[in-house]
Amino acid sequence: MFLDSLFGVFSNDLAIDLGTANTLVYARGKGIVCSEPSVVAVVAQPSGRGDRIQAVGHEAKEMLGRTPDSIRAVRPIKDGVIADFEVTEAMLRYFIRKAHNRSKLVRPRVVICVPPCITSVEKRAVRESTLSAGAREVFLVEEPMAAAIGAGLDVTAATGNMIVDVGGGTTDVAVISLSGIVTSRSIRIGGDHMDEAVINYVKRKYNMLIGERTAELIKMTIGTASPHTKTNTMEIKGRDLVSGIPKVVVTTSDEVREALIEPIHSIIETVHLTLERTPPELAADIVDRGIMLVGGGSLLRNLDHLLRQETKLPILRSEDPFTAVAHGAGKLLENTPLLRQVAMA
Ligand SMILES: Nc1ncnc2c1ncn2[C@@H]1O[C@H](COP(=O)(O)OP(=O)(O)OP(=O)(O)O)[C@@H](O)[C@H]1O
Ligand SMILES: [Mg+2]
Repeated sequence: MFLDSLFGVFSNDLAIDLGTANTLVYARGKGIVCSEPSVVAVVAQPSGRGDRIQAVGHEAKEMLGRTPDSIRAVRPIKDGVIADFEVTEAMLRYFIRKAHNRSKLVRPRVVICVPPCITSVEKRAVRESTLSAGAREVFLVEEPMAAAIGAGLDVTAATGNMIVDVGGGTTDVAVISLSGIVTSRSIRIGGDHMDEAVINYVKRKYNMLIGERTAELIKMTIGTASPHTKTNTMEIKGRDLVSGIPKVVVTTSDEVREALIEPIHSIIETVHLTLERTPPELAADIVDRGIMLVGGGSLLRNLDHLLRQETKLPILRSEDPFTAVAHGAGKLLENTPLLRQVAMA
C-alpha cells in the first residue's frame, strides 16, 4: 500500500486529452499539470529545411489570425483527429516535457484519449505520434469512457449511463454499461462549428468579416441555445466587406442564437438518434439517471435547458466540463485492471 503510493508519486505516467481546442495533461500522483490550447506557431525555414516551432499553447493561440506570412499558427488536431502529424508530434513532445519539468530522459506510459469514431489509420497516427514524442507505452481510450469516469459515473456497473461530450471539433454521445460503450454516435460538429456559424452569420447580416477568436468570444459572452434569458448585446469589431475598412456593430443574443441553430440542431439530433438505438433496459436506466453533459461546448448558455426540453430527461452537468476527460484518464493510470479493460485494441 505504502509502496504503491510511493510509486504513484514518483511514477512518470501521464494521461493526455488531446483535444481539437485544448490539450490537457494529467500526471499520476499530481493531477492536471498542463492545460493549453492545441495550437502551434510554426516558422517556415528558408530553402525547405522543414519548419521550426516558434510557440506552443497559449502563446501560439494569441497569434492565431495575427501572424505575418513567415509564421503559421496551426491547429494540428482537426475534428478530433490528427490533421498534421509532424506538428502534433512536436506539440505532444512539448507538453510531455513540460509535464516532466523539461526532462528529456523520462519515458512515461501514456494514456491518450481519442474520439470513438476514429479510424484505424488515425489510431495508428496517434499511437506513433505519442511514441515518437517520447512515450514508452501507449494506451488509447475512447473519450466518452474517460469522460464518464472523470464525471464520477460508475462505468463498471450493469447500469446505463449516457454521456454527451460537446468539444471543439466533435460531439460524442455514448451509452456506457459494464465498462464498455454499448452504443455511440459522433459527429464532427462542436464549438468550432458554432464559431464558424457566427462568422457566416455576421458576414451575411452585417457584411462584415470577423476572426475566429472574435466569433468564439461572441459565442461565449452572449451566445445561447434557447431564448430563456433576457436579451444581451455586444459590440463587435471587424472589417467591412465592401469598403474594406474596420467597423463596429452591435449584435444581440437573439441573433447569435439564430446563427447557432444548425450546429445545435445537429447535436440534439445526435442525442435523439443514440437514444433510439439504446437497448430498452439501458434506456430505462437513463430515464432515472439522466444525461451527463461534458466538454467546453456544453457550457453554451441554455444548452442544458434545450436538451431537457427536447428529451424530457434529467440533464446533469459535470463539475468541470473541461477536465472530465483528463481526470477520467488520470484515474485509469491508478487502476491498471480497468485501464486494460477499457483501452482500445
Ligand atoms: N462558456 C462557453 N460557452 C460556449 N462554448 C464554450 C464556452 N467555453 C468554452 N467553449 C467552447 O468549448 C470548446 C472547447 O471545448 P473542449 O476543450 O472540451 O474541446 P476539445 O476537447 O479540445 O475538443 P474535442 O473533444 O472535440 O477534440 C471550444 O469550441 C470553446 O469555444
Ligand atoms: Mg474533448
